[in-house]
Amino acid sequence: ASFSKKNYFGATSLLGERTIFSSGDLLPRRPTLSNPHFTRKLLDWYDRHRRDLPWRRPTNRSKEPLDPYAVLVSEFMLQQTQVSTVIPYFHAFMNHFPTLASLAKGSEQEVLRLWQGLGYYSRARNLRATAQQILANHSGQLPNCVETLRTLPGIGRYTAGAIASLAFDTSAPILDGNVARVLCRVKAIRQDPRTPAIQKRLWKLAEEILPTHRPGDFNSALMELGATICTPRTPNCSDCPVNKFCRAAQLGLTNHIPRPRTPKPTPVVTRWTICIKNKSHWLIEQRPIPGRWAGLWQFITLEPPSKHVSPQIISKQLSIPITDVKPLAQIRHALTHRRYIFEVFTARAKSRPKSANRRWITLSELSRYPLPKPHETVARLLQSHNGSREY
Ligand code: ADE
Repeated sequence: ASFSKKNYFGATSLLGERTIFSSGDLLPRRPTLSNPHFTRKLLDWYDRHRRDLPWRRPTNRSKEPLDPYAVLVSEFMLQQTQVSTVIPYFHAFMNHFPTLASLAKGSEQEVLRLWQGLGYYSRARNLRATAQQILANHSGQLPNCVETLRTLPGIGRYTAGAIASLAFDTSAPILDGNVARVLCRVKAIRQDPRTPAIQKRLWKLAEEILPTHRPGDFNSALMELGATICTPRTPNCSDCPVNKFCRAAQLGLTNHIPRPRTPKPTPVVTRWTICIKNKSHWLIEQRPIPGRWAGLWQFITLEPPSKHVSPQIISKQLSIPITDVKPLAQIRHALTHRRYIFEVFTARAKSRPKSANRRWITLSELSRYPLPKPHETVARLLQSHNGSREY
C-alpha cells in the first residue's frame, strides 16, 4: 500500500525518498515507497492530456471494456516502433483480423503482408503463434497474469507487464525506453540505463512506485509522459506534472540524463538485386527463417561475388542462364545496425527453371507477397516502367 511520507520540513519526499534540498539529506536513506502525491499529479495530468489512441478507451470515464486483443496487437506493433507509424498498420490489421480467433486461423503470408513495411517481422510471426496458443491452451482468452503471458511467443517482461496492466488493470510494472528515461530523470540516475545493473534497479523502482489503484493508467501515464513531455532531447519541464519531484530538474541535469549513447559507426553492406524476367513473369525467392526479413519474398539478391556485374557471373551463381543485364537503380536502406546499398539490375532468362524457394510470377501477382521495404521500391519501379521500357 502507498502512504504519504513527509520529511522534517514537511516537503513531500521524492517518490517516497527525501527531497534533495531539505534536511532530509542529512538523514539516512529510507526505503523507496510509492508516493500518492506523485501518483495523483501524474494521473490527473494523464486524464486531461492523454492522446486518443485507437487501442485505448475513448475516454478515461468510459465504462466500455477494453478489448484485450487490441492491446495485444498494439503492444506487438509498438515494440521498437513509434505510435505514429503504428496507427495505420493497427487499423488495417484490426480490419483484416478483428478477433484473436480470426488471426489464429489466418495464414502466415497474410499476417506478414499486413506487417509489410513495419519491420522486425518476427513480431508478426510471434503474434500469430501467440494467438494460436491462446486459442489452443487458454480457451481463446488472453491470460491476465504476467507469468502466463510470458510463456507465449514474443512476450517478454515488458510486453507481459503492459498487457496485464493495460488490458486487465493487473498490478504489474513496465519498463520501456520512455519509462526508463522518466525514472532516470526523476531519480537522477546518471549511469547508462541499458546496462543490466541499472535495468534491474529501474524494474525494481517501476514496481515500487506502482499504485494499487489504476495501475494500468499509471503505466500508460508514465509512457505518455516520456513520449510527449519528458522527451530524449529538450524535455518540456515547464509543462511536466511531476516537475517538483524530479531530481534531474532540480539539479539542472535533464539534458545529461540519461547519458547519450555513444554512436557506433553503422556498417555499409552492398547487395546485388537481379530482377530476372521471362516473358511476363519475374523470378522471386523467399528469404530463409530465421534472419532479417525472414519468410518475406524478394527479387533475387546476392552478396556481390565480384567487383563488376556480368551475365556469366550471375548465371553461375544462381544456376540460371541469364542475358541482357542492365542497371535499373541504386536503393539505399538504413536499419538500426546496418546500412544497405542495393545495386538493382534487370536481366532476362530463356526459360523458367523451378526451385523450392523460388517462384515465377507476374507483377500484378506480387501484391499477394510480403516484401521487404527496398524490394517494394523495386517492384514500384518495375511497375512504373512496365510497357514503357524494354527489359
Ligand atoms: N508504447 C508501448 N505501448 C504503448 C501504449 N499502449 N501507448 C502508447 N505508447 C506505447
